[in-house]
Amino acid sequence: MHLPTLPSLSLLPLLLLPHASAHGTPHPSPAPQTTTKTLFTFPNSTWLENIHVTPHNTLLVSVIETPELHLLDPATGSRSLVTTFQGKSVVMGITEYGDENEENYAVLTGNYSQAGGGVQGTWEVWGVKFLRDAHIRPYDTDHDQVQEIQDPSDPSKKRRLAIRKSLLGTLPTAKLPNGFAALNEHTLLISESTGGKLLSLDIRSKSNTTVLADDTTVWDPKTATLPIGINGLKVFKSRDSSSAWVYYTNTFLDAVYRVRVSAAGPQPKVQAKPQLVAKGEILDTPDDLAVSVDGKSLLVARPLGNAIERVHVETGKVETVVSGAAVEGATSVSLGRGEKGKGWVYVSSSVGKVFGVKLNGKA
Ligand SMILES: *[C@@H]1O[C@H](CO)[C@@H](O)[C@H](O)[C@H]1NC(C)=O
Ligand SMILES: *[C@@H]1O[C@H](CO)[C@@H](O)[C@H](O)[C@H]1NC(C)=O
Ligand SMILES: *[C@@H]1O[C@H](CO)[C@@H](O)[C@H](O)[C@H]1NC(C)=O
Repeated sequence: MHLPTLPSLSLLPLLLLPHASAHGTPHPSPAPQTTTKTLFTFPNSTWLENIHVTPHNTLLVSVIETPELHLLDPATGSRSLVTTFQGKSVVMGITEYGDENEENYAVLTGNYSQAGGGVQGTWEVWGVKFLRDAHIRPYDTDHDQVQEIQDPSDPSKKRRLAIRKSLLGTLPTAKLPNGFAALNEHTLLISESTGGKLLSLDIRSKSNTTVLADDTTVWDPKTATLPIGINGLKVFKSRDSSSAWVYYTNTFLDAVYRVRVSAAGPQPKVQAKPQLVAKGEILDTPDDLAVSVDGKSLLVARPLGNAIERVHVETGKVETVVSGAAVEGATSVSLGRGEKGKGWVYVSSSVGKVFGVKLNGKA
């Protein structure tokens, strides 16, 4: 494991690595039922923090060493810089939200340094809307910023892709907003890793609430090496959308939990105590996660364990899907979409690589 390539702004400081390699190496390389590919390699081993697959099976990837959001197409191998957040140092979680027929994404951006952690007072939530072809043009640009980018899915450069950026809200007292997931069209959930809380932001009123802050979301300042409790965050909606399971990892506790949250009222409310889904050494220092389409299993990325683990929600059983160099530094995992993405999951990493993992029908 090559330690020096970890960026200085790494969320998982170097001092944890000797411990991590002790757990990270015993796993065999990729399990036989999976195929893995390195799809993209960013220069300078850039820390890629979060990944979100769009309906076109292109990949939105956020960067920690520079405040950038990129769009990659695994089919063409090309990529575009979507946007940079000036005056910020990192981009954290990415989520899709709003009308299903539109392409609305949102990201968390702010400042983070290795010495001081997340910088309070810097955190903002920005919307990044994709506008394709005919939809581009007479937009009010007084408050929003519109610019055109190259669509990486269109090497012939025939189609236009504009993006419109708008500020959706601020989190003045948050320390490290990290995981990000939409609960409904106007409510975005945020894991505040250092504050040890699950927050929500209503993008209509721009007001926030604390949805959950308990012993499943916190970290212990007396024993933690990292000030990171609740981290990875995903929402799995019930059929009628009136409530949802919110799945989250806790990096300090080596655990995955879920909590049932109302999704229909004016504000999200926890409906029952959180449940432990799985915990233990095989989930050591978990980062972000993905929920399978049927909601029965989770895929959890472990940057220090160089592994993707599958957690069976009902039984709590955990098995390694892929580990080793094939998913080195895995920070986040997102399921492929549409025909092109069928059976694939895409993985961002702390070593500047984006991996594709073919699960052979088990996604
Ligand atoms: C990579 O690092 C080199 C040396 O620090 C720097 O000059 C270059 O601009 C970096 N490239 C990118 C894309 O960040
Ligand atoms: C945040 O980081 C940016 C980029 O490094 C810097 O220009 C800005 O001054 C920082 N702001 C605060 C409040 O630390
Ligand atoms: C939530 O909003 C209130 C009111 O604007 C603000 O004082 C508070 O700092 C916000 N919470 C976070 C975590 O930023």
